[in-house]
Formats: sequence, structure tokens, C-alpha cells
Amino acid sequence: MNNDFEVLKKLIQNRRSVFPADYIAKEIEEDLIEQILESANYAPTHKLTQPWRFTVLTGKAKSKLGVALGEIYKATVPAEKFLQKKFDSFAQKTDQAACILAINIKFSGKLPDWEEIAATACAVQNMALTAEALSIGAYWSSPPLISGLGEFLGLKEDEKCYGLFYMGYHNNEAGTANRTPMSEKVTWMRD
Ligand SMILES: Cc1cc2nc3c(=O)[nH]c(=O)nc-3n(C[C@H](O)[C@H](O)[C@H](O)COP(=O)(O)O)c2cc1C
Repeated sequence: MNNDFEVLKKLIQNRRSVFPADYIAKEIEEDLIEQILESANYAPTHKLTQPWRFTVLTGKAKSKLGVALGEIYKATVPAEKFLQKKFDSFAQKTDQAACILAINIKFSGKLPDWEEIAATACAVQNMALTAEALSIGAYWSSPPLISGLGEFLGLKEDEKCYGLFYMGYHNNEAGTANRTPMSEKVTWMRD
């Protein structure tokens, strides 16, 4: 096997979701954030619509996101189901992360929505593998609350937020992937 394959396989297999509680207090250099974003731009895209859009949140903007998430939670959860711990967790996570990328999609109207979502998911995986290669932990967070982030993020009518990509340096050991065998998910047709 050539070296490219070995390197790629290692990055794919070692990438794990790393959550804010495991991040250490260390900034991610802006040029590395740019490199991670650059990788997203090479995702495959039907009709070259390139639907992926990202909002980069660092510094005080992260705290403002935490406040916005808390406000959306408070406004949407029935009063009897409100949990202070859950409310507090938004600001905690946004503060623990060194950088958060809002994963947004701009729908072109030229394709079914699922194709724009699929292309954006490919872009996010490119970012996750690049982060892994840079020893930066990351994970895609998709709480239902993100559908209320349009105003905070200044999204237009044809744009929607599909998640938050939390990032931070960490000291975790490479974790094992929790997967059932691939053979259970593949059907070969030879004749
Ligand atoms: C589209 C998408 C949305 C996700 N949303 C969440 C989420 O809201 N909360 C969470 O804890 N993990 C979320 N994850 C991460 C998964 O929990 C994680 O990928 C899974 O547990 C497998 O672990 P691994 O990424 O380390 O292989 C999401 C992953 C994807 C691809």
C-alpha cells in the first residue's frame, strides 16, 4: 500500500467526535481555522452549487452564541420542562470551545435539498479529517434549537443552519470507533 493510503486510512479511522468538556484552554491559530475551512471547499458538489456556508465564531462571539442558544431554549421549552442545568450548558460549551463554526446551507433551488445537504456533509467531513490531522478535536452538534439561530447568524431566506462544529485542542487518547462490522452493511452483486 502506498503512503497516501496509510495516512488517509489512519486519519479516517482515528477521527473521533471530541466534545467541549474535553477541550483544553488553548486558542486555535486563525491560519489553521482557515486551513480547515479551505478543506471544506473541496467537497464534491452536484452542478457546482457549492452550498456550504460557515460562520466562524471565536472570542466574544462564542459567548453571544451561548446566550442566543439559552434564549432560544427558554423561549421554546414549555415552562414545566425547563432545566437550569440544560440552560447553563449552552454557555458552558460555547466557552469551552476555542472556535465554533455554524454549518449553514445556501439552497440554490437547482437541486433537491438533500443533494445540497449531502454536499455540505461531505464538506464537514473534510473539515473533521483536517482537524484530526492538525490534532484539533471537533464534533458536529445538531440540537433542534439551531433552527432558531437564523436571526443571530444573519441568515437570508434561502439559508439555513444545520449544526455547530465545535473545535478545540484536547489531550484525549485516540478512542476506538463504536461500529458494527461493515460486512453487515454491504451487499455485493457479481452475477
Ligand atoms: C449530522 C450529525 C449530527 C450530529 N449531532 C450530534 C449532536 O447533536 N450531539 C452529539 O453529541 N453528537 C452529534 N453528532 C456526533 C455523533 O454523536 C458521533 O459522530 C457518533 O457518536 C460517532 O462517534 P465518532 O464521531 O467519534 O465516530 C452528530 C454527527 C453527525 C454526523
